Amino acid sequence: MRIMILGPPGSGKGTCSKIIEEIYKIPVITTGDMLREAVSKESPLGIIAKTYMEKGELVPDDLVNKLVKERISEKDSVKGFILDGYPRSIKQAQVLEEMLAEMGKKLDHVINVVLEDEAIITRLSLRRSCPKCGAIYHLINKPPKKQGLCDLCNTKIVQREDDKEEVIKHRLEVYWEKTQPLIDWYEKRVKVKKIRGDIDINILPKVIKEIIES
Ligand code: AP5
Repeated sequence: MRIMILGPPGSGKGTCSKIIEEIYKIPVITTGDMLREAVSKESPLGIIAKTYMEKGELVPDDLVNKLVKERISEKDSVKGFILDGYPRSIKQAQVLEEMLAEMGKKLDHVINVVLEDEAIITRLSLRRSCPKCGAIYHLINKPPKKQGLCDLCNTKIVQREDDKEEVIKHRLEVYWEKTQPLIDWYEKRVKVKKIRGDIDINILPKVIKEIIES
């Protein structure tokens, strides 16, 4: 099964993706996490990506497309995958369409996670994440069991560099200009299923399962 999760920054794409991964045992491909890893390793890609990410801009399409092409060709992606945060521009969507056609595959589900900008700005200031395994927390809605430590790998959880208010606002502007038009683009091709990004986190797995299996 191949699933794409669309939605503005902070709407809950990563949270939904991890739930789907847990239910259907298919890997999540999060371009944001892959780029953050490249930045922390100071690889050639990371050095370029950092200059865009710290300002809340999109990393150039050709770099991200290459990263995704390599990742979806890996062995664990054969049975399916969840795309979280990719594509983010019509150009990326066109390249993905070509990649999937070459592999003789198609998307099974496109899910759009919706949340208003004001709620996103408030929420992201309280997000913390694990730099090691990528687990996502919220200091009020989903706090870790042990204060400051990841439930899954006991690593110290951190606030993301781009979760400062002025960068969040710019990420939202970039979303509305470059990524939101993708919803119409996909609606002409597949049924885009909508989910609210503020559904009670405890019932989220049940709601997601119903959406996918309906
Ligand atoms: P990326 O890491 O993908 O960031 P983003 O799209 O801005 O999305 P976020 O990860 O901030 O939020 P999310 O929607 O996953 O929400 P989450 O589940 O964490 O990208 C970062 C940067 O990398 C980009 O700005 C760009 O520079 C670059 N990049 C990445 N992909 C690229 C691409 N394809 N092309 C070019 N550049 C690219 O939830 C947010 C918070 O809300 C958490 O605290 C969570 O616990 C909480 N929460 C979630 N759901 C609920 C709920 N139902 N109820 C209550 N709280 C909830």
